[in-house]
Amino acid sequence: MKRTAKLETLKKLSFIEKRKIRRPFTLRGREGESEIRFRTLKRADREKIREVLEDVKSFTPEEISVALSLLDETLGGSTAYRFLVATDERDTALGYICYGQAPMTSSTWDIYWIAVSRRFQKRHIGNMLLRGAEDEICAEGGRLIIIETSTKPSYRSTRRFYEKMGYRVSARIAKFYSERDDKLVYSKYFSS
Ligand SMILES: CC(C)(COP(=O)(O)OP(=O)(O)OC[C@H]1O[C@@H](n2cnc3c(N)ncnc32)[C@H](O)[C@@H]1OP(=O)(O)O)[C@@H](O)C(=O)NCCC(=O)NCCS
Repeated sequence: MKRTAKLETLKKLSFIEKRKIRRPFTLRGREGESEIRFRTLKRADREKIREVLEDVKSFTPEEISVALSLLDETLGGSTAYRFLVATDERDTALGYICYGQAPMTSSTWDIYWIAVSRRFQKRHIGNMLLRGAEDEICAEGGRLIIIETSTKPSYRSTRRFYEKMGYRVSARIAKFYSERDDKLVYSKYFSS
């Protein structure tokens, strides 16, 4: 990488790191400014999150219904899943992450779902959501985070995102999802 390009990347990264995770930040785009905020799940998010899950065009109807069932369990009082929701200034959900401690492990956590509405993708909201989850996991003594995904070409962008966020492929299970779709297990270790 050229020195100037490297400097630019470092500047950009330190800018992101300096933003306090889960504090509001302003997105500037052609359509004006939006103030992005982070909070936990509310009942009113269900419909908007369903729209986000449909909008990203990555998920099958079955996957969307599983994603929503995790929401429903949580809204019903289950503590198995945690949610961090990104909203605009009108408190409308634009994206979210769902994670939880892996059952029967001492400090391993799973990221179950992450999605950002297409219009707001590649503008660091996914970064903030994942880092928000990582912060909370680390604060609770978590030392390993696992994310499973598919090798389908439509997930290329998602795999790049995980790699950018410091996750590495720890395992690959051939033909897991279908004859032509393997499962990739991404992991990231944190020192305790
Ligand atoms: C994956 C997803 C959550 C990422 O959210 P996002 O808000 O678009 O990601 P960010 O803008 O925060 O990107 C974070 C970093 O990853 C990089 N990145 C994101 N998409 C990328 C791509 N397609 N290619 C290369 N890098 C990419 C960004 O450039 C950024 O790096 P930087 O900090 O050096 O600039 C979002 O794209 C999404 O909802 N995808 C569809 C749903 C999905 O596949 N979910 C996961 C399966 S459960």
